[in-house]
Amino acid sequence: MPRLLSTDASPNTTPHDALRSIVQILNPWTLSRKNTRHVDEVQRFFVESFGTQNVFTFLRGRSALSLTLESLGITSGDEVCIQAFTCVVVPNAITALGATPVYCDVDDSYNLTADSIHEVLQKHPRLKAVVVQHTFGVAADMDAIVALCKEKNLLLIEDCAHALYSTYNNKLLGTFGDAAIFSFGRDKVISSVNGGVAVLRSPAAAEKMKMLIQEKVIHIRTADVYKHLLHPFVFEVGKILFEFHPALCNGWIEIFKHTRLIPLVVTEKEKEGAQEVHYHLPNPLAYRALVQLRSIRTTLAHRADISKVYAGLLPIDTFFPQHIPSYASSSLLRYTIHHEQIPQIEGELKKHGVYLGHWYDTAIAPKDTSLEGAKYTVGICPKAEKLTMSIANLPTHLSITEDDARMIADVILKNSKKV
Ligand SMILES: Cc1ncc(COP(=O)(O)O)c(C=O)c1O
Repeated sequence: MPRLLSTDASPNTTPHDALRSIVQILNPWTLSRKNTRHVDEVQRFFVESFGTQNVFTFLRGRSALSLTLESLGITSGDEVCIQAFTCVVVPNAITALGATPVYCDVDDSYNLTADSIHEVLQKHPRLKAVVVQHTFGVAADMDAIVALCKEKNLLLIEDCAHALYSTYNNKLLGTFGDAAIFSFGRDKVISSVNGGVAVLRSPAAAEKMKMLIQEKVIHIRTADVYKHLLHPFVFEVGKILFEFHPALCNGWIEIFKHTRLIPLVVTEKEKEGAQEVHYHLPNPLAYRALVQLRSIRTTLAHRADISKVYAGLLPIDTFFPQHIPSYASSSLLRYTIHHEQIPQIEGELKKHGVYLGHWYDTAIAPKDTSLEGAKYTVGICPKAEKLTMSIANLPTHLSITEDDARMIADVILKNSKKV
């Protein structure tokens, strides 16, 4: 079989990561809670980039989001605007505070707009905050959104989970609002299996965050740190097994998922609308994040180059890719297309070792999420719902070469013509 090219199978992991994780597992000092050296370095990296001392790290971006909202004063009975075409952990971060997510529709860049927030405001005049998700790294129109939030006295939080170091008119995303959150989840721009950061502008919110961290954030068990460190090893071995037979790879990874020896992306509890416990970022994971943060410019340039190959070969009027406005940087987490023949295309691509992603094939992902738990009513965001149909994401991560991207585009072109 050819090598595995997948948006979902721990795409940022390399054989070197797997080896490094094994070395970390064998070195007890890396696991000591007293050793926070790399966590501190990650914090410093964000302090220098985002021009504020108020940087906080967590095991996950979803904890960063919920605690940021709470630090900014969001509480029971408040309404917070988010977009549809998102992950269930986003509304969960709001409902966990007793607040209500109010859904906003999106445009062709897959982002909410000042107009769509305005529409929501007509029905929800007491709206308190807006969370802007820069979907797949493409900036929302921040000038218009910032102006509206100022005019209407709305808190503005940037969800940069997909948009680490992406820009709007050459200015870093995460510097426009009252706060921003980031993720180093396993299929994000960089990955330490799990990892999250909150950046707050106001010193008062930062003080509240420090209190909340004392009250609500705990250390994960050492056994769970081991599970995170095992993850890159499991996937790298899986990638080798794939080249013998895909079933061997699947079987191998399923064993670890089934026995919970590697962490889940979204738990069953989360799909029902509940929030998991908040954890600190463990030092060994911070180390993995730090290594990748140091080469973030290369990663972003690579993702932009691969996206450019797809854009050059796949006609817009056939594949309707995510629109990248002129103000947005063009480094995409995933290059997204829409086509009626996605199932046939995917079948053919699998023969070449290519597995496409499906972010998002439902208004609130993943597919088996309880819409009731997420407080989403079908039909309220028709544009977002339309986007979820016949959707597929092409990989842009570091191990995808330009030749791989050309091969993927070629298979898509050949198989989209068949009726
Ligand atoms: C849009 C969005 N925001 C926030 C998050 C939370 O990130 P994490 O997985 O680190 O909790 C995700 C995760 O998938 C996401 O897709």
